Amino acid sequence: MKTQVAIVGAGPAGTLLSLILKQRGIDSVVIERQTKDYVLGRIRAGVLEWTSVEILRAAGIGDRLDAEGHRHDSVKISWRAQDILSIDFERLTGKPMMSYGQTKVQEDLYAAAEREGINIVFGASDVEIHDVTTNSPSISCVVDGEQERIECDYVAGCDGQHGVSRRTIPSELKSEFEMSYPFGWLGILSETPPLPYLIYANHENGFALCSERNPMLSRYYVQCPLEDTVEDWSDDRFWSELTERLPSSVASELVTGPSIEKSIAPLRSYVVEPMQYGRMFLAGDAAHIVPPTGAKGLNLAIADVHYLSEAFDAHYGGGDSTKLDGYSETALRRVWSSVRFSWWMTVLLHRFPDQTPFEQRMREEDLAYLTRSEAAQRSVAEQYVGLDL
Ligand code: APR
Ligand code: PHB
Repeated sequence: MKTQVAIVGAGPAGTLLSLILKQRGIDSVVIERQTKDYVLGRIRAGVLEWTSVEILRAAGIGDRLDAEGHRHDSVKISWRAQDILSIDFERLTGKPMMSYGQTKVQEDLYAAAEREGINIVFGASDVEIHDVTTNSPSISCVVDGEQERIECDYVAGCDGQHGVSRRTIPSELKSEFEMSYPFGWLGILSETPPLPYLIYANHENGFALCSERNPMLSRYYVQCPLEDTVEDWSDDRFWSELTERLPSSVASELVTGPSIEKSIAPLRSYVVEPMQYGRMFLAGDAAHIVPPTGAKGLNLAIADVHYLSEAFDAHYGGGDSTKLDGYSETALRRVWSSVRFSWWMTVLLHRFPDQTPFEQRMREEDLAYLTRSEAAQRSVAEQYVGLDL
């Protein structure tokens, strides 16, 4: 096969990139390790920055998002058990955020890719990236037992945190920054009506979060020790712990029910610099990981794809490679801003096993300052809904 841009990974980043490139008249092939159903079966993020909503609409997949997404003008934060503060980002920034599950984003992306006739190769194994420092890079893989090779002008590494593309950058040329958090998130889905708002809770037992997927599908999380497994958490234990960590006025609104999905995810911050090497460009989780507290993972992937597709468009459409040469520097500005925000929200809202009483008081001072200062609220609001691209 021969194409202009060979994309590794058909998650949100790789699929959105192939769609936007197609609309700009740029040919691509997407190589995905898993099956389509496996990718669609992943339960991941649920919040879109307004910037992401605009990018997805421009990519032609805004119809269901606008019909089924739930706009939120604010989020709540509870602390000291009963205190509740509200960050009214619509009033403070003029932008809302949109609750819309990543599963739906992926479904919409695959439907659009099908309509546009984009070639996504599912079930590829032994994927390898070759010769990215030459003018003729390529990708080799095995599909249905047959060895395949895709010759291309450029490679986009959109293969997530466990992919192969990041490893293509020689270790002596890359810098890696990482923090692992000493706790995980236990998340459940339940076919119950969600609360009418998102609320993040900082409680002495640990963090909790109430979110949603649709009017009859709720998404809840509680912080749990890293060594816990889902077997340690019956539904009853989950609901009583979630109820305990929420203010009583909020807990009384909770509609509980059997979990239809339950999983524990570790929390990690990670960035690799640079996000490009030769003719290979990284986008999404392949280049960075954020703890979900700031709801930035999916949004960063979308922003990377925005910058990278703009760069390819300038190159192929106008012969100008300035944006391609500067992609990593451009993308990393937003990456680091979101990585910091996600780290800050995680430290603010969680209980660290070895934290000191002084550190807890500093967190409570941050929350007290957020409660009384519109300037502090505006700072959180503009980062939560997404800084301008
Ligand atoms: N070859 C081909 N495909 C691969 C390989 C490989 N060697 N390794 C991984 N993949 C595929 C994975 O199966 C996955 O479908 O690459 C895709 C990467 O998708 P994501 O992990 O979803 O990453 P990304 O597209 O950057 O989206 C980031 O997804 O994981 C969440 O929290 C994350 O919300 C964020 C968003
Ligand atoms: C979710 O709905 O899954 C969600 C919402 C907000 C977050 C993290 C996850 O910060």
